[in-house]
Amino acid sequence: MQSVVLVGLMGSGKSTVGRALAVRTGVPFLDLDQVIVQRAGLTIPELFAAEGEDGFRVRETAALKDALFQDGPTVVATGGGVVTTESNRDALRRGNATVVYLEASPMELSARLGKDPDRPLLGDDPLGSLTELLEERADLYEAVAHHVLPVTSRPVPGVVDDLAHILGLDPVVTGPVFYEPVRVGGGRDYVVHAGHGVRHHLPEVVPATARRVAVITQEHLPWTVDPGIEHRVLHVPDGETAKDLRVVAEICGQLARWGMTRNDVVVGVGGGVVTDLAGFVASVYHRGVNVIHVPTTLLGQIDAAIGGKCGVNLPEGKNLVGSFWQPSAVLCDTETLTTLPEADYKAGLGELAKYHFLGGGRLDELDMAARVAACVRLKADVVADDEHESGRRAILNYGHTLAHALETVTGYTLRHGSAVAVGLPYAAEVARLLGRIDRDRVEEHFRVLDAYELPATLPDGVNHESLIQLFSRDKKALDGVTFVLDGPDGVESVRVDDHALLREAFKVYDR
Ligand SMILES: NC(=O)c1ccc[n+]([C@@H]2O[C@H](COP(=O)([O-])OP(=O)(O)OC[C@H]3O[C@@H](n4cnc5c(N)ncnc54)[C@H](O)[C@@H]3O)[C@@H](O)[C@H]2O)c1
Ligand SMILES: [Zn+2]
Repeated sequence: MQSVVLVGLMGSGKSTVGRALAVRTGVPFLDLDQVIVQRAGLTIPELFAAEGEDGFRVRETAALKDALFQDGPTVVATGGGVVTTESNRDALRRGNATVVYLEASPMELSARLGKDPDRPLLGDDPLGSLTELLEERADLYEAVAHHVLPVTSRPVPGVVDDLAHILGLDPVVTGPVFYEPVRVGGGRDYVVHAGHGVRHHLPEVVPATARRVAVITQEHLPWTVDPGIEHRVLHVPDGETAKDLRVVAEICGQLARWGMTRNDVVVGVGGGVVTDLAGFVASVYHRGVNVIHVPTTLLGQIDAAIGGKCGVNLPEGKNLVGSFWQPSAVLCDTETLTTLPEADYKAGLGELAKYHFLGGGRLDELDMAARVAACVRLKADVVADDEHESGRRAILNYGHTLAHALETVTGYTLRHGSAVAVGLPYAAEVARLLGRIDRDRVEEHFRVLDAYELPATLPDGVNHESLIQLFSRDKKALDGVTFVLDGPDGVESVRVDDHALLREAFKVYDR
């Protein structure tokens, strides 16, 4: 690979994009302004005061030439004014590097930079100043650039993907990437990335204030991540036993001994077990640090890692200790699903089938990244309405009343997602018997299960009466059972008191 030099106005993302490209390509990264500051032992404002802009530009030219003519490729982010002198433009033209202009509109730049006190050049009218700067410099950027890359309204990972493409590098992200915003308010909104290879977006989503990253994962997982800054990998056991307060204490102890601070970040890489645990650790360590989830199971990507619920188990029951802790980003890398064991994949498909009836429509016709994105959007919408699970969030439990009872009677040998799959036609039949939906809609449930090759039959030997007994325990109802049922207004919670009807509905499986 050739060296790459990024040019463009302040705020166009040269450092962030450059650092991310460097991580992806394993090539060193140089921030030219930082090189100048280090060599001079003065900050940029101090340099301007002591030597004037001319003095600064002389140092800039020297640093630029060193960067361009050294051995081996480098990714170089330049200062916004680098193109204002002939000597720098000449160096850029002669250097053996691909120069890329990150082109952003003044509107976008002023929104990104706001009234940053560290950008005194912008004054009180950032939009006006940026418009003027761009008028002065646009031609100069274009004159030195081999490529112009528009970045307005584009997420950084997409820009890095395009840059890799321009440079003819093997793409780490293949296929479309979906960016699904999750709105939780209070400045905690975040974006879920879904696509093949999006784990490579990690450096772009680690908050700039972080100095260290603790990656929590499981030893046997075939997927690793590189956050692009100092990091440590902490392994937790496989299976539900990892969701244990003793494991939380052990991990927090390791973070403390390592010196993790409030500004640092936890990254959870794994299935729902890992993201539930990592989220909980992040919510309590130092009274809360940022967490980024990289879910590697289908269930994790469409369910566990979205919505902010996290926690661990007690001997007395599952998920009894936990918190609501929103991640700062979630990377749903569909490439990781390629190594998922069949049973885990099927369990994820059971949960996916549910989303067809929560407004997802023909999800089976989409490719995997689009499907994951659609489920994320559906869950995110529900969660945005009801972050703390007072009402609407209950609809995510479609198919779950029978599923929970089946998990109990089978002693949890049936996977949760597989139990949900079996529970869907039952919920449909209860709704039909109540006159809420017609026979075709019940059939649609079977069609979806067929499409995913999921069994639509009760496990052998389960007793209907004992399942009905368990329904009322599920939501601790005194009389009647709260079911989540499909109907003319979509899926909603409905109380069902009629045991005869609940018994009758089991006939749906006699096909
Ligand atoms: N927080 C929530 O809102 C929420 C929602 C649903 C489920 N959950 C929790 O999620 C957990 C279940 O999650 P799960 O089904 O992902 O189980 P899991 O995390 O145990 O993963 C299943 C198995 O697959 C392995 N694995 C994960 N990714 C892999 C990959 N890409 N390739 C190969 N192997 C891989 C894991 O190591 C594990 O052995 C439960 O603890 C449940 O309580 C939480
Ligand atoms: Zn579920």
